[in-house]
Amino acid sequence: MSDKTKLAVLGSGKGSNFVSLAKACADGSLPAEIVLVASDIEGAGILEHATEFNRPARFIEPGPFRTKLDRNAEAAYVAALRESGAEWVALAGFMRILKGDFLRAFEKKVVNIHPSLLPAFPGLEAWKQAHDYGVKVTGCTVHMVDHGIDTGSILAQGVVPVIEDDTAATLHQRIQQEEHKLYPRTLARLFNGEIRI
Ligand code: GRF
Repeated sequence: MSDKTKLAVLGSGKGSNFVSLAKACADGSLPAEIVLVASDIEGAGILEHATEFNRPARFIEPGPFRTKLDRNAEAAYVAALRESGAEWVALAGFMRILKGDFLRAFEKKVVNIHPSLLPAFPGLEAWKQAHDYGVKVTGCTVHMVDHGIDTGSILAQGVVPVIEDDTAATLHQRIQQEEHKLYPRTLARLFNGEIRI
């Protein structure tokens, strides 16, 4: 039997963080096997990348709400994740708030990456919030997911300085480069038992 952690990845967007996790699994630096990639957006980049990496990819209907899953959708996500054998769930740009039954089903096993140094700038377009505010450093945070919005225990942070000519877009790019190092590294430490929650 494999001693690798079974990991599912949920995302709604282009999937660059998924790619960094998949590469780290492939080169052995992340002791995990990605058993499912699921998205609430049909044809999302993350699903295409999952297929490129030969990982099971599924679009799962999110239901009628814009920012959360309805009860049926939540049950469908939980069922798919259980069926995949996932032990941990990594959110990588999943644009819906997970609550209730989902978090109970994977209690203390859901992590997220957020593009700011939490608790500063929770919520949407955190890089733009930071840029507009005029901070001189920002970055990204890997944290546990709880019932709040970007409020769970912080596992790791990466710092990105804001430079003179940064636009929100160039700042976002550099934050993402940092994310691609921080996320696999942090999950590796977590799965190796090097982080206490
Ligand atoms: C990342 O910037 C992450 O911090 C945020 O959503 C974005 C996802 O980007 N939660 P990608 O789809 O992984 O490229």
